[in-house]
Amino acid sequence: MRKQVVGNWKMNGSTAVIDEVLDALKTERHAADVSVSVPYLYLGGAVAKLAGTQYRVGAQNVSEFGDGAYTGEVSARMLKDVGCSLAIVGHSERRRYFAESDEAVIAKLARLLEVGLYAVVCVGETLAERDSGRAESRIEAQLARLHTLMARGAGPDRFCIAYEPVWAIGTGRAASGDQIAAMHEVIKRHLGASYAVLYGGSVKAANAASIMALPGVDGVLVGGASLDAREFGEICRAAG
Ligand code: PGA
Repeated sequence: MRKQVVGNWKMNGSTAVIDEVLDALKTERHAADVSVSVPYLYLGGAVAKLAGTQYRVGAQNVSEFGDGAYTGEVSARMLKDVGCSLAIVGHSERRRYFAESDEAVIAKLARLLEVGLYAVVCVGETLAERDSGRAESRIEAQLARLHTLMARGAGPDRFCIAYEPVWAIGTGRAASGDQIAAMHEVIKRHLGASYAVLYGGSVKAANAASIMALPGVDGVLVGGASLDAREFGEICRAAG
C-alpha cells in the first residue's frame, strides 16, 4: 500500500507560512501520497498554490450538516467546491474542546462520503484509558459505528483511520513501536487489512522512518512538524 503523509496545521499558519512550506514542498516529488490540512481560511490559497502538483489540500473539520442555517459552519460541499480533496474528522482536539461525540464524527464522515471527499478518521485513547487497560476497548468503540457506512459502500478508497493516542499528541512523546504496532493490528482486525491506518502523535523527521517501518503502519498524521518545511520534507522522504 502506498504510504500517506497528512500534515495537520491545526490553528496555526499564515499566508507567509503557506508560501514557505508549500513552495518548499513543490520543489520535490515524493513517492507517498502527501496532503496538508490547513485552516479553512487558507484552503483556497493552498489549493491554488498546489494546483497541478501531486499534493492535495485537506480541511481539519467539516460540518455534520448540509448547507443551510448553521452560522459559522462549513459544509462538505463547500470544501469540495474550493478544491479540497480530503478532511480530517474526529481529531481528539475537536472531541475534547468542542465536545464532538462519536455520533457527530460519523455524521461528518457521512457528509464527506456523500460529496466524494476522502476522510481521515481519528481515533485514540487518553492516558487514563491506557493506564486502566481500556485503550483497546475505547478504540473499538470509536470504530464500531463505521460499519454502518462501510455496509453502504465506504471502502478503503473513501477513508482511512489515524490512530492518535491522545497522550502522544503535541507532547514530544510518541507511542512506542510495540504500542503502535499492537493498536494498528487491532484496528485492521476490526475493519479489514485493506483500510489504511496512519499513526499520529509527535511524529518528527527523527522518528518518521522507524514508525512507518512498523507492521500495519500505512503512513503518518503530522501536527507540529508539518509547519516546518525542512522537517515535513524529511518526513515525506521517509515515506518512500
Ligand atoms: P503532533 O500532532 O504531531 O504535533 O503531536 C499530531 C496531531 O494532532 O495530528
